[in-house]
Amino acid sequence: MLLPLLPLLLLLPLLLPVLAEGHRAAVLRMGLRGSPRGEVSPAFLSLTLDASLARDPRYVALLSNSKLRTLAMALSPGFLRFGGTETDFLIFDPHKDSTSEEKVLWEFQAQQEACGSRPAFAAVEKVLLAQWPSQEKLILAEQNRKKHKNTTITKNTLDILYSFANCSGFHLIFGLNALLRKGGLQWDSSNAQALLDYCASQRYNISWELGNEPNSFRKKSGIRIDGFQLGQDFIQLRQLLNNYALYQHARLYGPDVGQPRKHTQRLLRSFLKSGGKVIDSVTWHHYYVNGQSATRGDFLSPEVLDTFATAIYEVLEIVGQTVPDKKVWLGETSSAYGGGAPRLSNTYVAGFMWLDKLGLSAKLGIDVVMRQVFFGAGTYHLVDANFEPLPDYWLSLLYKKLVGTKVLQVGLSGANKRKLRVYLHCTSSLNPKYREGDVTLFALNLYNVTQHLELPDYLSSKHVDQYLLLPHGKENILSKSIELNGHVLRMLDDETLPELMEEPLGPGRLLGLPAFSYGFYVIKNAKAIACI
Ligand SMILES: *[C@@H]1O[C@H](CO)[C@@H](O)[C@H](O)[C@H]1NC(C)=O
Ligand SMILES: *[C@@H]1O[C@H](CO)[C@@H](O)[C@H](O)[C@H]1NC(C)=O
Ligand SMILES: *[C@@H]1O[C@H](CO)[C@@H](O)[C@H](O)[C@H]1NC(C)=O
Ligand SMILES: *[C@@H]1O[C@H](CO)[C@@H](O)[C@H](O)[C@H]1NC(C)=O
Repeated sequence: MLLPLLPLLLLLPLLLPVLAEGHRAAVLRMGLRGSPRGEVSPAFLSLTLDASLARDPRYVALLSNSKLRTLAMALSPGFLRFGGTETDFLIFDPHKDSTSEEKVLWEFQAQQEACGSRPAFAAVEKVLLAQWPSQEKLILAEQNRKKHKNTTITKNTLDILYSFANCSGFHLIFGLNALLRKGGLQWDSSNAQALLDYCASQRYNISWELGNEPNSFRKKSGIRIDGFQLGQDFIQLRQLLNNYALYQHARLYGPDVGQPRKHTQRLLRSFLKSGGKVIDSVTWHHYYVNGQSATRGDFLSPEVLDTFATAIYEVLEIVGQTVPDKKVWLGETSSAYGGGAPRLSNTYVAGFMWLDKLGLSAKLGIDVVMRQVFFGAGTYHLVDANFEPLPDYWLSLLYKKLVGTKVLQVGLSGANKRKLRVYLHCTSSLNPKYREGDVTLFALNLYNVTQHLELPDYLSSKHVDQYLLLPHGKENILSKSIELNGHVLRMLDDETLPELMEEPLGPGRLLGLPAFSYGFYVIKNAKAIACI
């Protein structure tokens, strides 16, 4: 019986793909038969603008730039959170007149009410952009100093912010100042009320937060607020919102705590016990490293990437014990705090932290991830001060186009490959190129040599669309420019994005990831039950 098979068996090793560098392909194990392991919000990949942008109201006007809006629109739908340290130092003045310089801008602004075509305000913009580098330094210096000072925001700032969000297809989340206090204790809601009055009068549909990283209020302002009190303040804000027909059902998110260190965990727990019932999702912030000291090695280290999983488990445990029915969101997150790591957070190498964060978040049950920042000071932005999209922008765009909300099980069998990280979702149902049942794999290779992935046997006859992202130019992984399947990604003009072209791979092909690279693979006609 066995004899006729023997020659075949002998041939088998020769039929196995022969690989360069003598490495065996890692075989993918995929959970396509059962139900999805989880599902995230359609707004999973969301964005932030840092409240420091309001330091000088003229810079808020840069949000009217049409290229910037085109770039934002392509990443919609999502939330746009306006917040950060400055949140607790912004005071709304409904009566303040704009300076004459601002007025020029507001006039342009006034003409663009209806999201339509915007007049060129190129001359003013040019002046602003020329001043931006020094403004940016000022913002970063202020952020890194311990002392903070109050800034006034006007109706115009709110108008531009709202118009930017709404016209780009984003839902605005605005952080209210929690450091306005009555006798240092209870929250003083009068300024928030003035701001809500104005926003309601304009029928602005906004969701709300109160305070930013309350765990470090003492460091920032000398005021210490415990979790119980903060919870009571949120209840007060909820009652205030209930007074407005427009905001009765408005969402409230919080408490936007920083990394879950011990004292922050305590604050989060007592906040959730005290005020957890009035919030719609629990928000916390995560950064892997300090921007001042981060190294290239940190961005490529599986140990550093895994610290994020530990932080998620800590937060999920606290939420599970206090408000188990609430969704958990990353309300602000990026690679490195303090504005990012210079020459790292704005280059190809930042994509390892970003893509792994997206993958792990969805896998472990985080519902929304808000990327710090879309545009603004520092180096962790998706779009730089010249309105040029950076590698993480393009990575986010591909993610939006290819990755759906349903999360599937995936792993690698065989060798222990810690530096080869894989994630699997149903393909985005909004992408007209793909069909129900298709799945999107994304993978990161942290090895310094090419790695190969092999689909399980039952998928070996499937066609795969590859979207491999590699750095462009001699700076290699520290490049600010990125290639998709060998073509540099850049805008065609201020209003046109390039087409994101796949590289079709025939059935049975191995998926090859060069040293230090990442990419997406859509497995067509995979017929995943979870995705139908
Ligand atoms: C900001 O203004 C509030 C209200 O006037 C005041 O209590 C607080 O001390 C000010 N903060 C700073 C840093 O000046
Ligand atoms: C928000 O944008 C939509 C179009 O996307 C528009 O119809 C609506 O009027 C805008 N709302 C406000 C308050 O500007
Ligand atoms: C406000 O926006 C949210 C989220 O997009 C939406 O669900 C809600 O219906 C809107 N509310 C109003 C009053 O338009
Ligand atoms: C890859 O890294 C290993 C150490 O992990 C080192 O021994 C080897 O020389 C490196 N190879 C290349 C091609 O850089």
